[in-house]
Amino acid sequence: MSAARRARLGVLVSGSGSNLQALLDACAQADFPAEVACVVSNVPTAFGLERARKAGVSAVALDHKAFGSRADFERALGETLRASGVEWVCLAGFMRLLSADFLAGFPGRVLNIHPALLPAFPGLHAQRQALERGVKITGCTVHFVDAGTDTGPIIAQAAVPVLPDDTEASLSARILAEEHRLYPLAVRLAVTGKVTLEGTRTRVDAQAAVGDQSLRSPGAPK
Ligand code: GAR
Repeated sequence: MSAARRARLGVLVSGSGSNLQALLDACAQADFPAEVACVVSNVPTAFGLERARKAGVSAVALDHKAFGSRADFERALGETLRASGVEWVCLAGFMRLLSADFLAGFPGRVLNIHPALLPAFPGLHAQRQALERGVKITGCTVHFVDAGTDTGPIIAQAAVPVLPDDTEASLSARILAEEHRLYPLAVRLAVTGKVTLEGTRTRVDAQAAVGDQSLRSPGAPK
């Protein structure tokens, strides 16, 4: 019997790529319904490109500064992804906004992970924003990408406690551990059609969500 067809992911990174690594590790499991077809970074020195090469995945640097306009950069990005047969685009610490034009090339098929419980703390330094605001719980969100900043329909969230002595680094690390668990779950839900877009919201197949723990609450702070 032939193996089930796997969705082809293009993962976009700007930095360390630890979320990319979580996706690569998930895709290495025989029963995971997706594979990473290529990794693209707008930062040529991003460690995420190294992770891709180590996993035997096509790694492409497209330095946005080398392009005359955002439209030119996005055209090259779209061509690179399509050349690898990418069907779904996963932003994993990709620090560029994508235009509505680019998104239209992958309708309803661009996902992002953000280190806060959206709609709280969108944009840069979400963990610092959470500490400054004094929230007791924060976390991470995987959502469909629209042309806004971290505004698209939410697929899955995980919460973590904010502890009294947290620094930006300690809180980021606690959130990141949940990100690495949550992103593969959300990708699995999305590519298997268990999550569907309904305007500004999503509907997640209830049974799949329970099985996948796509919503999780923190334990009490120690
Ligand atoms: C992650 O915390 C991700 O949620 C965040 O950047 C970090 C990338 O880490 N993304 C954003 O803030 C997007 N708004 P990684 O490179 O180790 O995956």
